[in-house]
Amino acid sequence: MKSIVLKDIRYKYPLAKEYALKDINVAFETNKFYGIIGPNGSGKSSLCSLIKGLIPDFYLGDLEGTVEIDDIPIGQWDKNKLCTKVGYIFQNPFTQISGIRDSVLEEIVLGLENQGLSKDEMIERALHVARLIDIYDIIDKNPNELSGGQRQRVAFASILAMDTDIYVIDEPTSQLDPEGTENVFKIIRSLKEQKKTVILVEHKIDLMAEYADEILVMSGGQIIRRGPTQDILSDYRLMGQKIAVPQTAVFGRDMKNAGKPLSEIPITMELQSAV
Ligand SMILES: Nc1ncnc2c1ncn2[C@@H]1O[C@H](COP(=O)(O)OP(=O)(O)OP(=O)(O)O)[C@@H](O)[C@H]1O
Ligand SMILES: [Mg+2]
Repeated sequence: MKSIVLKDIRYKYPLAKEYALKDINVAFETNKFYGIIGPNGSGKSSLCSLIKGLIPDFYLGDLEGTVEIDDIPIGQWDKNKLCTKVGYIFQNPFTQISGIRDSVLEEIVLGLENQGLSKDEMIERALHVARLIDIYDIIDKNPNELSGGQRQRVAFASILAMDTDIYVIDEPTSQLDPEGTENVFKIIRSLKEQKKTVILVEHKIDLMAEYADEILVMSGGQIIRRGPTQDILSDYRLMGQKIAVPQTAVFGRDMKNAGKPLSEIPITMELQSAV
């Protein structure tokens, strides 16, 4: 079943000369995990903003084409309903934190206020995700006094608490140390297990190899390639387009160059041992 359909998308930010998104025709299916990769400025975050309706509502600019969520044009969605349908974790956690609440707990509860839950239920849910995402010890802190990494985790917790069908996650670990990254990836793994529809932008390609069903490659505002994760990430030619491929694929290329090609280019350590 199609979850998100983008048709003939072209988009230019206000006053920009270049289109940030061009000729995008793509459908995302329900219950699948998509990875988006591509160099800086290639349009990954813009694509996320489009799916959340922030383009054009918040960013304005010139948008052509249509975005449909569950077959309904995004403009026709009730704004509150859309919030509980699509969870968006911003690349920059400083943008995401509301700054209007006095504690992390209240910040997480904020997103739950239109969902018709009782106060106890909201708090229970907020505490549950706080434990999951390892921010329980800062639950009483003022969100404005958090580090970038703490903010990133609070932002993630706020969205997780809403238990949306679709998760659009833009570089969720950019501010995190290895332990924080591992923790967030555990949560992402659980989203996959729950069969949520996930669109994840991430530069940590080895992690992407482990989770994504399909990879979309962006460049210059376009989706230049799309396919099963194995096909895309084993293609070391992508390195020529400023796109990282897994270390294992580089190893596969080196073996080929050394005259000992592998029957299949591995993209994760698990696969490597199977070859
Ligand atoms: N708010 C904005 N106003 C004007 N132009 C913007 C804005 N945000 C992004 N752009 C431009 O749109 C293009 C795509 O940017 P976008 O942030 O979507 O790229 P990205 O792939 O997410 O990059 P990164 O890997 O650095 O996060 C870039 O040329 C960028 O300069
Ligand atoms: Mg970005």
